[in-house]
Amino acid sequence: MNLFDVYPLNDIEITKASGSTVWDANGQEYLDLYGGHAVISIGHTHPHYVQRLTDQLHKVGFYSNSVKIPLQTQLAEKLGTVSGKVDYQLFLCNSGAEANENALKLASFYNGRKKVIAFKGAFHGRTSLAVSATDNPKIIAPVNETDNIIFLPYNDEAALAATFGEYGNEIAAVIIEGIQGVGGIKEASISFLQKIRSLCDEYNAVYIADSVQCGYGRTGKFYAHDAAGVDADVYTMAKGMGNGFPVAGISIAPKFKPWHGMLGTTFGGNHLACAAALAVLEIIDQDELLKNAEKVGAYLIAELQKVEGIVEVRGRGLMIGIVLPEHMPNVKKDLLFKYKIFTGEAKPNVIRLLPALNLTKDQADRFLNDFKTALKG
Ligand SMILES: Cc1ncc(COP(=O)(O)O)c(C=O)c1O
Repeated sequence: MNLFDVYPLNDIEITKASGSTVWDANGQEYLDLYGGHAVISIGHTHPHYVQRLTDQLHKVGFYSNSVKIPLQTQLAEKLGTVSGKVDYQLFLCNSGAEANENALKLASFYNGRKKVIAFKGAFHGRTSLAVSATDNPKIIAPVNETDNIIFLPYNDEAALAATFGEYGNEIAAVIIEGIQGVGGIKEASISFLQKIRSLCDEYNAVYIADSVQCGYGRTGKFYAHDAAGVDADVYTMAKGMGNGFPVAGISIAPKFKPWHGMLGTTFGGNHLACAAALAVLEIIDQDELLKNAEKVGAYLIAELQKVEGIVEVRGRGLMIGIVLPEHMPNVKKDLLFKYKIFTGEAKPNVIRLLPALNLTKDQADRFLNDFKTALKG
């Protein structure tokens, strides 16, 4: 049997990892500023994480949501405290797409409506409604096509207000990334997020903050949307939540009332997933990783802004986009193969930095030095 060949692969096999360092099968060391696609939040193989998962595995790895799982309650309490949304409710699932799918479904159950406002450049996942709300026709299969999604320009308050004016009573939800990741590290403006809040209040629509990539402390705030000083109704999260263990969730405002069977999943919130998610929050809290993300991120952004030859530096905290000129298409490849640094990318020519939240200043400096050299070709 062959693998279904959907991923363009780099010819590298990672066999060992620690913090923001990974090694390949030949023992070659790499600096990881990609965090396995924004997933590694507390660093690879963090000792507390390894211990908590190992201990849990020796007790019970999985049992279904038909029995009490106290780890889920502990996780909800810890997430409420660390995220500052203590009165919200937690539903656990397995991936970012599934989190968004459930958030959209919850919104529709709540107000009985069908239309969803999403934005140009958005990425919300590859499952049915999540992919319909994703601005990439190439990955929308005919079966996912729907008239229920209205795409608006990002950060366009007038277009948003006009759409609510026209369809207000049909709109179930507005879904927005606080910083578009796949779209190229583009920030939602504070006034735009505030406008979404006020229009959702006015029309009883649900404000869904897709925090799958920009959340979990990456920007220095727990959710990137927090910068606007208004609460969303539902926050979706995944990537950084389990530091690599597949776990995702939605944080749900108190006004939503659950009923048995409303949402569900076999694997969501299993013992191992909860142990992983708890270990992550314990380290984020104990090591003050939000502060570190803010500090090291601000340093990186300030230093990058001084580098000549870059078109633009975008982002906040440790979610950074470096826009390169068109005549430099090889920098990302050179960083990986010549300088042994993993980074992410966004089309057409943006380098995305999504490292662990405990990246050190020394590691940031190593990147800055090599990046400047790489730019010279
Ligand atoms: C903002 C955002 N939402 C949703 C998703 C989908 O997450 P997953 O790949 O875990 O389904 C992603 C993945 O990159 C994302 O960046």
